[in-house]
Formats: sequence, C-alpha cells, structure tokens
Amino acid sequence: MKKTVIVSSPGKLIIGGEHAVVYGRRALVTSIGMRLYMQLTEEDKQDYESTKQLLNIVFHDTNKHYSINLLDSHDSYSLEIQAILYIYNHFKSFLSDKNQLNIQVRSEIPIGAGLGSSAAFSVCLVGCFYLLCYKKLNQEDINQLAYKVECLFHGTPSGIDNTISTYGQSLVYSRTLKKHLDFRLSNLAIIDTGIPKSTKRMVDLVRVFVENNQIEGEKILNDIEICVDTMIEHPEQINQLFQRNQQLLKCLGVSIPEIDSIIQTLAEKNISAQITGAGGGGCLIALTSSFTKDEILDLLKDHHIKSIQFVECGVEGLREEQTFVS
Ligand code: MEV
Repeated sequence: MKKTVIVSSPGKLIIGGEHAVVYGRRALVTSIGMRLYMQLTEEDKQDYESTKQLLNIVFHDTNKHYSINLLDSHDSYSLEIQAILYIYNHFKSFLSDKNQLNIQVRSEIPIGAGLGSSAAFSVCLVGCFYLLCYKKLNQEDINQLAYKVECLFHGTPSGIDNTISTYGQSLVYSRTLKKHLDFRLSNLAIIDTGIPKSTKRMVDLVRVFVENNQIEGEKILNDIEICVDTMIEHPEQINQLFQRNQQLLKCLGVSIPEIDSIIQTLAEKNISAQITGAGGGGCLIALTSSFTKDEILDLLKDHHIKSIQFVECGVEGLREEQTFVS
C-alpha cells in the first residue's frame, strides 16, 4: 500500500524592511505566484532487507537523486538533505520503520535569488510530513517547525520568509507581529540579476556593520522601519519609498556596484527599483509604470541580467494539493 501527499507553497517578495526585520523592525512582504511543489509517499516495502530503511529524494529542477539509508550516518549530506532528515526524525515515531519514503520536489521559484525558495522548501517539507502523520495542515505548528529548518539554512533568520510562505497573502511582519494586509502593487517587475547571493553571508555582513557602527546602524534600521510604515500608510508615495529603502540598504552595505548600476539606468527613465531580500546579488523589484517587459529588457541590455518577470502578488500560502492511497 502507498500513501501519497502533495503540498505546495509560494515564494515571496519583501517590499520593504529586509535586514531591519532581523533586528525586530517591521517589514512588508507579499507572497508571489511562483510555487514549490513537494510530494511525499510512504510505501509499504515488507520485502526490504531489514538492514535498510530507505529515503529516496528527487529534486526535479536540478535533476539530483538521492537514495539514503536512514540507518547510516548523515553528516556529509547537503543542507537540503540534512533538513529532510531533521524533519524525518521529528516525525519518525508516527512512521513505520518498515516503510520506504519517497520525496519529489519541483519548483517555479529560482534558487538563491531572494524570492524565498528555501522557505517554500522548508514549509512544504514540514507540511508534507504533517499531512502524512496528522491528516490535516496546522499553519501555526508548521510555521514554527519550518522556522527551525530555516535556521539550519540561514543561522538566525527573522522568520519572515517561512511565515509568508505558510500564510500567504501580504503581511506586515516583525518578530512579534503578523498582520495581514490588502497590499497590492501593479506593474511590479522582478529583475533577476543572475548574481548568486548567500542570505547568511549578507545577514552576517549587516551584523558586523551594526556591531561596529552602533549609533549609525540603529538609525538606519529605524529609518527602514519608518519607510515601511509610510509604504503602508501612504502607498501613493511608493516610488520615492522604493528609492529611500534602496539608499538605506546601500548604507547597510548590501548593495553591490552591478545593482547600483542597474538601478541608476532605470532611474534615468523614472523607474524606481530596489533590492528585495538579502541583496549582494539576487533579485531587484521595479515599479515599471507603463514600460513593457521588452522595453525594460532593452533598457538593461548592457547589464547582462538573467530575467524579468511580472508576477501575481498576495497569493494563497501553504496548501494541500492532493492526498491519496493506492
Ligand atoms: C531574507 O529574505 C530577508 C532578510 O531580512 C533575512 C531575514 O529576515 O531573516 C535579509
């Protein structure tokens, strides 16, 4: 007998407040119409050799396949596999040790681009095991456990990425606040610089800056929060606020010359753009007003960007796609 569960959860865009949110400030975040899908199957394999407890994992986007004996030592595995094993261990008392587990992952969210791919992975991973063991999803429990998985990937993240991926829509988020908002921006383009970035490295860089420049650092973090509050209260000022948020992120040290140069080219056509997520590469967001995708591609032709996409914002969070027994 085989039991299969399939869940999905969305990526995200931080509209304002990245990094400052790590220090308890408010941030504005929205979920996007790019999702990660995960399938978990528990399969009865009574005929297996008793020395093997198998977990098979397929990452379809990178074409990576793993077959892991759960009884072996797992220290040398990648972070994704360690995350899977961490969650497996959390739920293992609900699972039969005679059964084989198969996990398949498929994602529309680019990896390492600041769009929340690791959080969507963490949320779906917990969601799948939760559904298999408890038969229904509990957002609060899943979000808390997904945060622990995010800590494996990023150290001490703020929790904004897993929270938006779990609950969806748009949120004002801080470590002590989670409030849904009806916040939508039209003509919002995601510009993928194609420059790889590491969230952990950028968060560490900001920590060193804030520790070494305490008064200036606190002021920048407070100004970022004021910027976020103004985005919520005065959405009509969003163009200036994008520019302001970008200036403040640059003061924190998370912009890079390639990003500054793209933002400058866009500013010459009155298009406001800023980093979204950790910075140091990854994606920018731009308020493109009446410009088409091709016109922006043409404007940025000398910058070697990877892609431009217009996405739906404020979408559904973690959801059960299918559960069946075969
Ligand atoms: C990453 O998506 C957002 C950061 O603020 C880190 C975090 O909140 O944990 C850079």
